[in-house]
Amino acid sequence: MTNDIYGIEKWGKGFFKILENGNLGLLNPQKKQSKPIDLTKIVKKLNQKLSPPYIIRVADYLEFMIKEINENFNKSIKAIGYKNKFKSIYPIKVNQQSQVIKNVVKYSKKFNSGLEVGSKAELLIALSQNLTKNALIICNGTKDEEFIKLSLLSNKIDIKTILVIESLKELDLIIKISNLLKIKPLLGIRIKLTNLISGKWSQSSGDRSAFGLPVDKITEALYKLKKNQLLDCLILQHSHLGSQVPDIIEIRKYTQEACRFFVEIYNFGAPLKYIDLGGGLGVDYTGENKSKFHSINYSMEEYCINIVETLKLEFDKAKINHPIVITESGRATVAPSSILIFNILDTTIFDVKSCPILNKKDHIYLSYMIQILNYISENRIQECFNDLNYYRDELRVLFRNGQISLSEISKIEKTYLFVLNRIKAFVEEKKLNSNPISNKLNNLADIYHGNFSLFQSLPDMWAIDQLHPIAPIQKLNRKPSKRVILNDITCDSDGMIAKFVLNDGIKDTLPLHEIKKNEEYYLGVFFIGAYQETLGDLHNLFGDTNISTVKLEDNGKFKIVHEQIGDKISQVLSYVEYSSSEVLKIFSEKTNRFYKKNLISNSEKNQLLKNFKASIDGYTYFEN
Ligand SMILES: Cc1ncc(COP(=O)(O)O)c(C=O)c1O
Repeated sequence: MTNDIYGIEKWGKGFFKILENGNLGLLNPQKKQSKPIDLTKIVKKLNQKLSPPYIIRVADYLEFMIKEINENFNKSIKAIGYKNKFKSIYPIKVNQQSQVIKNVVKYSKKFNSGLEVGSKAELLIALSQNLTKNALIICNGTKDEEFIKLSLLSNKIDIKTILVIESLKELDLIIKISNLLKIKPLLGIRIKLTNLISGKWSQSSGDRSAFGLPVDKITEALYKLKKNQLLDCLILQHSHLGSQVPDIIEIRKYTQEACRFFVEIYNFGAPLKYIDLGGGLGVDYTGENKSKFHSINYSMEEYCINIVETLKLEFDKAKINHPIVITESGRATVAPSSILIFNILDTTIFDVKSCPILNKKDHIYLSYMIQILNYISENRIQECFNDLNYYRDELRVLFRNGQISLSEISKIEKTYLFVLNRIKAFVEEKKLNSNPISNKLNNLADIYHGNFSLFQSLPDMWAIDQLHPIAPIQKLNRKPSKRVILNDITCDSDGMIAKFVLNDGIKDTLPLHEIKKNEEYYLGVFFIGAYQETLGDLHNLFGDTNISTVKLEDNGKFKIVHEQIGDKISQVLSYVEYSSSEVLKIFSEKTNRFYKKNLISNSEKNQLLKNFKASIDGYTYFEN
């Protein structure tokens, strides 16, 4: 068995295991002793009916994460002697897909957890869930009359919908509508904390963040509430410091600042009952356990302890009763449970197995290129690389000027690749990673073409250089012989992945195995459950992938509990305002015109129309 070059042990949270047969196994974190489930078997089963790419959602991982967050907070509360409880709230925006929400609600029922919404559409999703009586629906975001009315009216049917005041203008609207409906609202106030966090989402924090009320507006809001006899409705204080907070110290500082506001607002006379600290709990995508964009320097346990300890200290200092603690962890809850699986469609290998044989007519530079093989050594490695490129480039000029033929330049290019790969092998063998040549050679990596769209399935990888671990799901017991970058199926040079999480750090190439003709080779992209499933776009009209939810069972077995067919071509056409019946009609008319003029046969006409119709109903990705 090769060692874990992909760092699966490091970032895998104990969810994955390399099996004896080299396939990737899924472990049930709630049944540590049970036999791992071979991920390739799940893919094989899905292949009987569908085509890759797939998103595989492992329901057990979602259940585990919900339990982890709640139990760790409950444990910290008990250990620290905090005199109130914890409530988890799931922010719908992080993954709104109905099967995900259904499972979030199911697994969090025993914790009386609620939902956070940021729009009217999300409010409708939340209101239609079977939440427990004590669960809260927390309404953030900009709210219009319709949003406010619906939230207020929902209180009449025993749903605890809290309107979080985002601005003074919004407060005026809430006052107006609650007077009109004669319903006293359940209110929250969103405060803008001054502490700035690091990482990619730092704009969500500090004075210049887009959300919440700054200090001067908070006092204005409090007086307005008092004047309108609504101060007694203000039961929640909300703040959110941004997503994927890398450093635990920032969480502590921010919690402390939130407490200060809470104490002041409480002392002003608002009967605050809940302190909502928003999201921010990060995911260690690289497994480095460091304060970096793709990593975090704390565990879930430390996160909970740091928050609860800070709250207790601050509220005891201010001599006020401990409020109910709320966090809105989205990323940490759902990221681990979704895996994108795609197959490799083709490879571009910049490799030549044997050295072309010289003949008398060959240009002298070709023999110089081959002679480089004689002086490859540690102190002349850069010189070898420079010489090789010089001779090749000079010969290319000759080709452009018509002085050498296509077959000659083809031999030259093959020789170039042969010598280059010898240089690469030497650099790898001698582990010359710190030599500047190493980077240059990595840029000459092979390309594996994957059946996926970066823009649709991994939008944060494209837009903000988010890293997700990627690993093959088979052959993990064999040494990979290729170093590759990945290209997706779109016709866009941006559809490329060239940063990878490996056991020995973040690298520009991914070690993968050579793929034989007709061999199926699958890669998994991990921790994609948060934000990725709905942020994606339709670049080149690649739509949602097929999705399957699996439950891990005992004895290495699994159950597919839900399957969702990905977008058909007719669906993606409709997103860009085409009617597929109209498109078909136009194409049929054109085909018929050709048929009537005897330019195509009846059978050709039928074949054309049959293929067109099949494509309209087909998957947007490459199908076998
Ligand atoms: C108000 C609010 N709560 C919670 C979250 C979720 O944050 P995270 O995914 O970091 O847990 C967000 C995300 O941006 C948010 O805006």
